[in-house]
Amino acid sequence: MSDTEYPIWDHFVRLAHWYLPVALGVMWWSGDQGRMEIHQWVGSSVLCVVAARVIWGFVGSQPARLTSFLVSPAKAWRYLRHGGRYAGHNPLGGWSVLAMWVLLLLQGGSGLFSRDDVLFEGPFAYWAGERSGTLTEWHLINWQLLQALVALHLLAVAWYQWRRRQPLIQAMWRGKAEYKVAAAPPKPMWVALLIMVVLALGLWGLIALAPQAPSYY
Ligand code: HEM
Ligand code: HEM
Repeated sequence: MSDTEYPIWDHFVRLAHWYLPVALGVMWWSGDQGRMEIHQWVGSSVLCVVAARVIWGFVGSQPARLTSFLVSPAKAWRYLRHGGRYAGHNPLGGWSVLAMWVLLLLQGGSGLFSRDDVLFEGPFAYWAGERSGTLTEWHLINWQLLQALVALHLLAVAWYQWRRRQPLIQAMWRGKAEYKVAAAPPKPMWVALLIMVVLALGLWGLIALAPQAPSYY
């Protein structure tokens, strides 16, 4: 590996990625235990991190962009039959990344409109009125789908890592490994962090503006 080879996964991609297992663990625990204050804050942060990562998929470092890893279904099928080595996400991985992003956004988004019918309402639950019940059901169903996809993700990563001997985890941890390198330098991380802060402020503003149930106390 020469010094002119750059990381395939920039700092933001890696930070955003490793935040997910930690945060989803907290979400599982807090949802189960009814620790809704924590659930709301960490859930909102997941929403901002994933939304910023999706925007990074358009304006970020080259390997992080959707155009670098989303290929036609025909190519994905060819990959499934013939395999191959990729510096970034492989064709199947690319589609599963997109699916995980969609489910994560739906999970966080529906959560904001959910209520637990006892003590807690998401910040947009009153706004959603009658529909809040349906969105809460979605929140719970989507969680099952998300768990299934994460399980598939872990199995797929393990398969490539240990059966196919591809250094996926090293690259996602350290930025680059063996052939998993980029030809161009990454975009600066502060741009991604700025995007995330703007999204967080936007969400905070919406929460502040959302109509809330009148207090009886
Ligand atoms: C439990 C929650 C997890 C979620 C929701 C998740 C989600 C994701 C997503 C969205 C990506 C795409 C990264 C990007 O381009 O920004 C990704 C990639 C990756 N994840 Fe995870 N991940 C999780 C846990 C893990 C764990 C525990 C490991 C390690 C054992 C892992 C290993 C990887 C690797 C190696 C890649 C890169 C795959 C490739 O080279 O194509 N993930 N993951
Ligand atoms: C990606 C982020 C999120 C994940 C992974 C997640 C996960 C979960 C899980 C696993 C449960 C079910 C707990 C159980 O019954 O055992 C749950 C319930 C709930 N979540 Fe989330 N959640 C997320 C975001 C949010 C957000 C941002 C809010 C808004 C405040 C929220 C509000 C709720 C509510 C109100 C319930 C209770 C529903 C009920 O028990 O009827 N969630 N969530």
